[in-house]
Amino acid sequence: MKIEIKNLKKKFNENFVLKDISLTIEKNKSTIILGESGCGKSVLIKTIYKLFGFDSGSILYDGKTEVDIDKFSMLFQYGALFDSLKISENIAFTDFINNKTNFERKVLSLMNDVGLNKSIFDRYPSELSGGMKKRAALARALYKNPKVIFLDEPTTGLDPINSDKINDLILEVITKRRITAVSITHDIKSAIKTGDKYYFICDGIIQDKGDCKNILKTKNKFFKSFITGAKY
Ligand SMILES: Nc1ncnc2c1ncn2[C@@H]1O[C@H](COP(=O)(O)OP(=O)(O)O)[C@@H](O)[C@H]1O
Ligand SMILES: [Mg+2]
Repeated sequence: MKIEIKNLKKKFNENFVLKDISLTIEKNKSTIILGESGCGKSVLIKTIYKLFGFDSGSILYDGKTEVDIDKFSMLFQYGALFDSLKISENIAFTDFINNKTNFERKVLSLMNDVGLNKSIFDRYPSELSGGMKKRAALARALYKNPKVIFLDEPTTGLDPINSDKINDLILEVITKRRITAVSITHDIKSAIKTGDKYYFICDGIIQDKGDCKNILKTKNKFFKSFITGAKY
C-alpha cells in the first residue's frame, strides 16, 4: 500500500506535536522514521494507523482517505506481550480472544518463520529472552497477514548482536511477504541496514529525508548532530 501524508498537523490540548509533516510511504518498501525521543514519531505512526485523529492536512491510502485498518499491523514499542497468556495464545491473539481454537498450525508455521522453536509453544513470556520476545511479537504482528506493518523501535532493549539478528529477521519477513514497512528507530545502523527511504523529524517537522544508504552523507546540520551526538 502507498501512503501519502501531506501537511499533517496534530496537537494534544494546545500543544502541536506534529507541526507540518509531509512524507510518502512507498508500497513494499521499508520507510524509516528517525528523530530524538519525544519528537512525535510514535504519534505519527499511530495517526497513520488511525489510532489518533489529526487537526489538519491529509493522509491518503492508495489514493483514498478511507482504509481498512485490518490491513495494518503494529509491533508496539517494548513488544507488549500479554504475560498471562502462552506464547501461542499471544501470537494468535486475535483468534484466541474470539474463542477460536484451531490456530495451532498457523502459529507453528509463524514460529518457524521467526526462528522460534516449537518447544516454547506453551511457555509464557517471562520464560523467554528479550530476543525471543521480540520474535514472538513479530509473529503476532504477522498473524493477520498485514499489507503494512508499523514497527516502533523494534530493537529497543536488545544488545547489538541480538538487534542485528532481529533486523535481519525483519528484513527477511517484509521482503519475502512483500509487506510495506514503516519503522521507527534511533539506531542509525539499523536504519542503514533495513531501510529504503528515511525521514528525520525534529521539532514537529521533517528536517531531512533521503535514501538510507546515504544517511552518513547528509548535509543537514540537525540530522548530523543527531547522528554524531555533537552540538550544531
Ligand atoms: N495521548 C497523548 N496525549 C497527550 N500527549 C501525548 C500523547 N501521546 C504523546 N503525547 C506527547 O507527544 C509528544 C511526542 O510523543 P511520541 O510520539 O511518543 O514521541 P517519540 O518520538 O519518542 O515516539 C510527547 O511530548 C508526548 O508527551
Ligand atoms: Mg516513541
